[in-house]
Amino acid sequence: MRVLVIGSGGREHALCRALGLDPQVSELHCAPGNAGIASVAAVHPVVPTDPGEVVALAERLGAELVVIGPEAPLVAGVADAVRAAGVACFGPSAEAARLEGSKAFAKEVMVAAGVPTAGARVCVTAEEAEAAFDAFGAPYVVKDDGLAAGKGVVVTSDRAEALAHAAACGRVVVEEFLDGPEVSLFALCDGTVAVPLQPAQDFKRAYDGDQGPNTGGMGAYTPLPWAPEGLTERVMAEVVTPTVGELRRRGTPYTGVLYVGLALTSAGPKVIEFNARFGDPETQVVLDRLETPLAALLHACATGTLAGRPAPRYRDGAAVTVVVAAEDYPADPVKGDLIEGLDTPAKDAYVLHAGTALDDQGRVVSAGGRVLNVVGTGPDIPTARRAAYEALANLSLRGSHHRTDIAARA
Ligand code: AMP
Ligand code: GLY
Repeated sequence: MRVLVIGSGGREHALCRALGLDPQVSELHCAPGNAGIASVAAVHPVVPTDPGEVVALAERLGAELVVIGPEAPLVAGVADAVRAAGVACFGPSAEAARLEGSKAFAKEVMVAAGVPTAGARVCVTAEEAEAAFDAFGAPYVVKDDGLAAGKGVVVTSDRAEALAHAAACGRVVVEEFLDGPEVSLFALCDGTVAVPLQPAQDFKRAYDGDQGPNTGGMGAYTPLPWAPEGLTERVMAEVVTPTVGELRRRGTPYTGVLYVGLALTSAGPKVIEFNARFGDPETQVVLDRLETPLAALLHACATGTLAGRPAPRYRDGAAVTVVVAAEDYPADPVKGDLIEGLDTPAKDAYVLHAGTALDDQGRVVSAGGRVLNVVGTGPDIPTARRAAYEALANLSLRGSHHRTDIAARA
């Protein structure tokens, strides 16, 4: 199978790595890719949000499957255009991707489908925000209604800060605060049928001890030994199946991966957010453990043929990933710094590239906020974690920062 992956982050590097290990994949392409992806796939320039460019590239390469990584192309209708050109595409339509693109739309679907989630109100004026803060109480959760790469959310007990965020965003969703550990569950969907992958946990705050601003994610691990028995089945029954059914009923079936971000509250799992794509960096650890060849699985989603396939299988043991972030990420990441130590061999660990590029001398330099993902593996979480941090110690990037407590309490 000739496969084209769209995107340029650590998630796409993980997708390319897994697809590259799949014997069914005869040719692997990625656009635009990054410096690390170039070592596992043929990379091509493309504007990922331009449907015409992506279709032209897919046709030129004779791609039999296009896998869309990030949310922006999905929201821009790239999956619709690829499918309209007759090429199998893993990724939801623009309409279905509104589950991620609009927090208000996601809430509307959840209410219609009876999915457990935080109570919420859409607010445009300061008066509306004040009224919602009074109704839900502190801590206040204020979310930008549009796409914000995980950075549009403020959770605070400081009412002035909450109000200021609402004013800065314009249209926001104010939510009831959900208390409890967070879990990310990915469900592969073919429009009708949905199949869960192994749950993972992500670390959203920038600094140790869950301090600092929200980020796209600073690390992740899988599996979750502490997760309640039957969690995946419960989330499939209470969240994924009703949501996929609701979108189908609306005439906008969901094809691709539905990312369910959950809080495990005392009243059971509740949805914090939906994303219309694989989570980053959870994908890096989940795909590390996935033993089932990836291409056929994604192709089955793209072609509505998931029914009857055996459930995905996993390798025993655990995977932990730690993100190396650029100086001043998430505020205003510094780019263009040299990355050293990438060739140092590591035991039971490897590096996936996120925001990297080659400079004019062919050296790997930082080119984004989250620069590298170091993935450690082992028979259990502490061993995998140790492998990741040992490998990370070989790397150097001026000004970079990373969390030292990823998976420490697992
Ligand atoms: P989101 O972009 O919706 O995933 O929000 C980013 C992060 O903010 C989540 O991972 C949570 O840590 C936090 N958060 C969002 N919504 C809530 C909520 N209703 N209650 C508690 N924390 C939340
Ligand atoms: N890891 C969180 C996200 O992908 O949005």
